[in-house]
Amino acid sequence: MPTPLVHRAWRFKNIMGKLDGKVALITGAGSGIGRATAILFAQEGAKVAAVDVDLDGANGAVAEITKGGGQAFAFKADVSKARDAEAMVAEAVKRWGRLDIIYNNAGIFFPAQVHSMTEEEWDRMLSINLKGVFLGCKYALAQFMKQNSGVILATGSVAGLEGHNGEPHYGAAKAGVVNLMKSIAMDYAHYNVRANCICPGGVQTNIAKGIIDKIPPEQLIKMGQLALSHSLIKRQAQPEEIARAALFLCSDDASFITGHTLVVDGGWMAGHRMAFFD
Ligand SMILES: NC(=O)c1ccc[n+]([C@@H]2O[C@H](COP(=O)([O-])OP(=O)(O)OC[C@H]3O[C@@H](n4cnc5c(N)ncnc54)[C@H](O)[C@@H]3O)[C@@H](O)[C@H]2O)c1
Repeated sequence: MPTPLVHRAWRFKNIMGKLDGKVALITGAGSGIGRATAILFAQEGAKVAAVDVDLDGANGAVAEITKGGGQAFAFKADVSKARDAEAMVAEAVKRWGRLDIIYNNAGIFFPAQVHSMTEEEWDRMLSINLKGVFLGCKYALAQFMKQNSGVILATGSVAGLEGHNGEPHYGAAKAGVVNLMKSIAMDYAHYNVRANCICPGGVQTNIAKGIIDKIPPEQLIKMGQLALSHSLIKRQAQPEEIARAALFLCSDDASFITGHTLVVDGGWMAGHRMAFFD
């Protein structure tokens, strides 16, 4: 299991952080992957704009960061709304004079099938999980073009790289995110902007909380067994394990990496098991 990040004090650290002097905006920072990333980026010296539609969640991440001696502020925004996306970028620039990193990570999940999905369900999924990434990039890029520098990261999913039954809207949105990052990498490389995507497999977060509460226990056990069978490392990831990959891609360690999709999935996408050997 990974070393927990949350309670490690970093205020006495006297080594250089990988993000010293950088300003980073992270969406979905109130929970799960976004929260772990906000804390790790602050530990590595970044000033963090912790953005979430759930302001209490974002405030919780900021409290954790400031307790450890880091710098952050919480900002309430719905990433699917253009005015909110514009405001979150503007606030980071107003406070700290620049923006170096945007991590478009906020997302939702609920299962559905095409024949019975409502138009509203489709629109909700696509507007948060795909349009939200576009909007974050749009307003960050305006700043990055002025600065002639910037790093973009987005959270995709293994569901955007292969078909999964029961989540066509989620998979379509995530496939869009994967391609959007590649296209942005191509269009803005000459502004010294890198754009990459992380595709997690199963991560232990709150994303399915509201759904799991409604599923009967026996079905839940079956689902858990199936989920674990996908991963070669027989457990879900902790959010900190995705955060470390995000740190790599957003730091100068990845200075020659752009247009890339980094799968962080415990081996989920390695292949399909055959029956010759156990
Ligand atoms: N947990 C997994 O197994 C898994 C796997 C692959 C990809 N992902 C992706 O990782 C990302 C983070 O999810 P997580 O697992 O940490 O879930 P989470 O539910 O713990 O965190 C998601 C955060 O996004 C916020 N959010 C939701 N809608 C928003 C909106 N419209 N505007 C602003 N913030 C909003 C939520 O309030 C929450 O704080 C998502 O994009 C998700 O699709 C998760």
